[in-house]
Amino acid sequence: FNVPVAVNEPVMSYAPGSPERKEVLDTYKSMFNSKVEVPMYINGEDVKTGNTRTMSPPHDHKHIVGEYHLAEQKHVEDAISTALEARKSWSQMPWEQRAGVFLKAAELIAGPYRAKINAATMIAQSKNIYQAEIDAACELIDFLRFNVQFMSDIYMEQPESTSDAWNRVEYRPLEGFTYAVTPFNFTAIAGNLPACMALMGNVVVWKPSDSQVYSAKVIMDIFKEAGVPDGVINVVFGDPEMITNTVLASPDFSGLHFTGSTHVFKELWKQIGNNIHNYKTYPRIVGETGGKDFIVAHKSADAKQVATAISRGAFEFQGQKCSAASRAYIPKSIWADVKKYVVEDIKSFKMGSPEDMSNFITAVIHEGSFDKLAKYIDEAKADSDAEIIAGGNYDKSKGYFIEPTVIVTTNPKYTTMCTELFGPVITIYVYEDDTYSETLKLVDETSEYALTGAILSTCRYAVEEATKALQNSAGNFYINDKPTGAVVGQQPFGGARASGTNDKAGSAQNLLRWVSPRLIKETF
Ligand code: SER
Repeated sequence: FNVPVAVNEPVMSYAPGSPERKEVLDTYKSMFNSKVEVPMYINGEDVKTGNTRTMSPPHDHKHIVGEYHLAEQKHVEDAISTALEARKSWSQMPWEQRAGVFLKAAELIAGPYRAKINAATMIAQSKNIYQAEIDAACELIDFLRFNVQFMSDIYMEQPESTSDAWNRVEYRPLEGFTYAVTPFNFTAIAGNLPACMALMGNVVVWKPSDSQVYSAKVIMDIFKEAGVPDGVINVVFGDPEMITNTVLASPDFSGLHFTGSTHVFKELWKQIGNNIHNYKTYPRIVGETGGKDFIVAHKSADAKQVATAISRGAFEFQGQKCSAASRAYIPKSIWADVKKYVVEDIKSFKMGSPEDMSNFITAVIHEGSFDKLAKYIDEAKADSDAEIIAGGNYDKSKGYFIEPTVIVTTNPKYTTMCTELFGPVITIYVYEDDTYSETLKLVDETSEYALTGAILSTCRYAVEEATKALQNSAGNFYINDKPTGAVVGQQPFGGARASGTNDKAGSAQNLLRWVSPRLIKETF
């Protein structure tokens, strides 16, 4: 099939004086200072229920940027019936037309909507512009473009035929409707989850995170303008339990595409299991959940490189990437240097509102997250087997600000070495150089999650040993790099164990979960 060759969207620099910097700042200011009303979107129509909740930026939580409308059960039921109606034509539409819609969406983001989707991500999720650009602009564009290429690869995959038996596979969309539940931390994931299911011919009920409504609204505006037909993607906001219960109670529910917490995913899986006799088809379940991502350094590693992997891997976007490093294992012989560089890096990180583009650190997502992180930091201050060597202060008077914090522990099973925190806190265990093999074993044993991990070493043997010993401890394993920043089309992303079903985001493998192949044999 002839589809455009997907290329990664170049990252814009936003250097001082650049036109894109001015444009995004102007857009940010105008969105920040006006009030937006965000309706739900069902059957191509804006739905306002009058039951609303306000939206505030995490870095300025008393400031209101708008409000959004919340669903009652009947709205979710409408979204389902509307989706099923839309399925009749969408699932039969030539694939080129579906591809065209999402390629158009990619170009709208790359051009006229770039500043807006970045500004919405800066406001709703407190990303600095550089983090917004690699997420809301580049990664989402990449997902949309590459998925079209993967779709065409899938359709081309056909069985052998003979002169008297023509075998062909038809990649049918799932029968029924699908459900996308998306997280706050990546605008790209929020857009990709419903989009990739719809691209494969499915219809979708989409529930975005409450902490990400503003950017979800911009995504939906883009999808509408790109030509997603009425009813194909329906957005509902509000009580997650009510929405999920209503969706999962429908006999036509046929697939869940989820990114969020391990606990919620397991609950949804259980609920789907309990309802299994009601469904017309076995629902597909795809989830990317938590992480407790690691960095292991070998004594041969370059201390500066290790420090950079820690500072960037743990603290970009306040450590709220599912891939963020949150525990590190450093050999004693290089620790003094690593420590010196990490502390220097942290001192150089400015913290504050994303409107000031020199700020590297902004706020964490909400008060619940802030309070949880503050509690762990306080415990580390009090515990005799932990020491805070950088950061450790926090303040929620204006925004939910937590300093990038480094805890060093003498206990490799210390709480913050094992518990997912989802914030700008990393815990470091310093090991004796000659216990490298035991340390690798320890890393694996304490990997309840298995999303990302990194080994830093200039010794090939040490790299090979870690690659083998940590085979099941990470779905994305990085050698001599930080464990964040997977690029669509280059590093398909996902992990196993408690981190998810590992149906790599940004891959043909993921798209295959949203089709049900029919084999047709024709004889002559
Ligand atoms: N793509 C992101 C990263 O690798 C996670 O979704 O950091």
